[in-house]
Amino acid sequence: MISSTTAFLIGLVAPLLASGFVLPRSVCDASSLTIPNLEGLPAPAGRVSFVGIAVGTQNYTCDNTGVYTNVGALAELFDISCLTNSFIFPALPDIAFAAWEAAPPSAPAQEVISFLHQFSSPAILGQHYYVTNPITGSGIDPKWDFTTQGATAGNKNAFVVAAKNTTINAPTDNQDIQWVFLTALTGKLAAEVYRTDTRGGQPPATCTPGSNPIVVKYAAKYWGFGGSL
Ligand SMILES: *[C@@H]1O[C@H](CO)[C@@H](O)[C@H](O)[C@H]1NC(C)=O
Ligand SMILES: *[C@@H]1O[C@H](CO)[C@@H](O)[C@H](O)[C@H]1NC(C)=O
Repeated sequence: MISSTTAFLIGLVAPLLASGFVLPRSVCDASSLTIPNLEGLPAPAGRVSFVGIAVGTQNYTCDNTGVYTNVGALAELFDISCLTNSFIFPALPDIAFAAWEAAPPSAPAQEVISFLHQFSSPAILGQHYYVTNPITGSGIDPKWDFTTQGATAGNKNAFVVAAKNTTINAPTDNQDIQWVFLTALTGKLAAEVYRTDTRGGQPPATCTPGSNPIVVKYAAKYWGFGGSL
């Protein structure tokens, strides 16, 4: 079943596709780009290094008090640098999340991305996942890994592992995962990373201790600033 939001978004996009609306198909220079609304997160110090939309999952385990704890995430990011001046830019999180939610369980994020490619630049930036903290060797921290894809493929420094600096509740909805500002621990892809414009990703309020881990779909914009590749 297609939700009314999805139907609305497909209705929005379909005429554009039918009219042959095509956007530039390369990573664009967005170095003067700023985040339109920081909602109180610290401002970036450097210039933008990447801007992408992600679809993926947040992983949770149920702790022994019946509350879900975030234990990682896995997401695919694709480049939206050529869309920053488009009316599509602010709508991308809704479009991506609606497509991701409508996808059957068997459909990987890649398939949703190929749908989004119909009206965007085709460049996959890379993946977002968690790794062991590279400084302390204990605990996990998020990584953005662009070493195998797109313009940075083959560049072994095209990654950043970052630690959370500031977290705020999403201004949109309590079902949307928090917005985050992180600073780099290792890697040259960016010195600062932001997760904004989140959709979905929050776990249920309570769980039964001992129950299985869950994954919750989400979409978000990720921004890197101050890279030194
Ligand atoms: C999160 O879940 C995905 C499956 O959706 C899995 O591939 C990934 O390894 C998990 N990551 C962590 C840190 O648990
Ligand atoms: C958080 O980021 C701000 C701005 O970059 C910085 O001044 C501050 O030292 C950081 N705090 C921590 C705990 O890393």
